[in-house]
Amino acid sequence: MTIALTYNVKRDPESFLPTSSDQASEPSSDGTASPLVPHAERKQDLYAEWDTMDTINAVRDAIAERFSVSLVEANADAYERLRTMRPTFVFNIAEGLHGVSREAQIPAMLELLEIPYLGSDPLTLALCLDKGRTKEILSHHGVRTAPFVTIASMDELEDARVRFPLIVKPLHEGSSKGIYNSCVARNSEELEKEVRTILETYEEPVLVEEFLPGREFTVAVLGNGASLTVLPIVEISFAALPEGMNPIYSYEAKWVWDKADNPLEIFSCPARIPESLAGEIRELCERTYRVLRCRDWSRIDVRLDGGGHPHILEVNPLPGILPRPEDNSCFPKAARAAGMTYAQLINSVLDIAMARCGIAVSEDEPVMDRIQ
Ligand SMILES: Nc1ncnc2c1ncn2[C@@H]1O[C@H](COP(=O)(O)OP(=O)(O)OP(=O)(O)O)[C@@H](O)[C@H]1O
Ligand SMILES: [Mg+2]
Repeated sequence: MTIALTYNVKRDPESFLPTSSDQASEPSSDGTASPLVPHAERKQDLYAEWDTMDTINAVRDAIAERFSVSLVEANADAYERLRTMRPTFVFNIAEGLHGVSREAQIPAMLELLEIPYLGSDPLTLALCLDKGRTKEILSHHGVRTAPFVTIASMDELEDARVRFPLIVKPLHEGSSKGIYNSCVARNSEELEKEVRTILETYEEPVLVEEFLPGREFTVAVLGNGASLTVLPIVEISFAALPEGMNPIYSYEAKWVWDKADNPLEIFSCPARIPESLAGEIRELCERTYRVLRCRDWSRIDVRLDGGGHPHILEVNPLPGILPRPEDNSCFPKAARAAGMTYAQLINSVLDIAMARCGIAVSEDEPVMDRIQ
């Protein structure tokens, strides 16, 4: 049995981070180098979503504990490679190359080739990357999510009826691409500046959303149908951010201030919250997972409003899975809190996905049962 691992790799992991001279180019009021990313440098986050070779190798090694694995880069040659290789199953972590449907590209090829694969289908992957469409569907089903508008040009801003404070983000990016400390807008001038920057930098519509002032959580969900497992809830604690910064998990917080050799103490898992709130969050996330027809695994971001009620921020059907604990990656962190190693997490989701596709793995007990 051969498993193909489909991926996109960051060729030079450092190239999308601001250099020290970039940082120094925008000094702060006290004259020291600002920790913020200057507007002019923002396109450097182009490949933020892609994986490093470290992550790809760690996933490969975990699968290789049980199966033979072939690596397939998700580029223009991928279709031909998959067609000739015809793997038994595909473990897909590819973020894709261009446009709002990029995460759906490899799954769509696999559907055409009738090769079963791990994760959500093209419809769910493309939908969840469009945060506005996702929120429309959630609202239709009565799942709480903050009021918002989608803006495609500066003229549309005039008619936008939304209440300050707001958060301004690109419509279809992940890994906090385009979401900088400055994206919290408290008045019309700030709103206009941020909307203009995103329209010009990313050349895509902008989501303008009411700012939820409460605590933030992210929730890892595994499974299908009636049997979903919600891993311990992770809280994002903004007290760890540099002083004076907005309480958001921005690009700077994710990629600039948090370094493997000097990690930000930003997560606590399991979140220290009353069981009633934890139950409410789990229920909201399970409902969201089902409404959006997620498969096998997803990570769902949640934030509380002023009244302490949880709202869905966005859904990640291709969750980030950085292997090293000091890399601060939420899905593996939640798995560790549940007593799973990285390899057990990867093999659990593989079991779940192969069972969904009716592929018999072995006589062994599923990985998940052995650790519970
Ligand atoms: N409506 C909101 N109110 C308050 N903060 C928000 C809101 N929307 C987003 N944020 C903040 O911005 C961060 C990034 O937003 P979001 O999760 O939409 O981006 P992303 O790039 O898709 O994230 P990921 O890395 O999870 O893919 C959130 O974690 C949160 O801190
Ligand atoms: Mg998010």
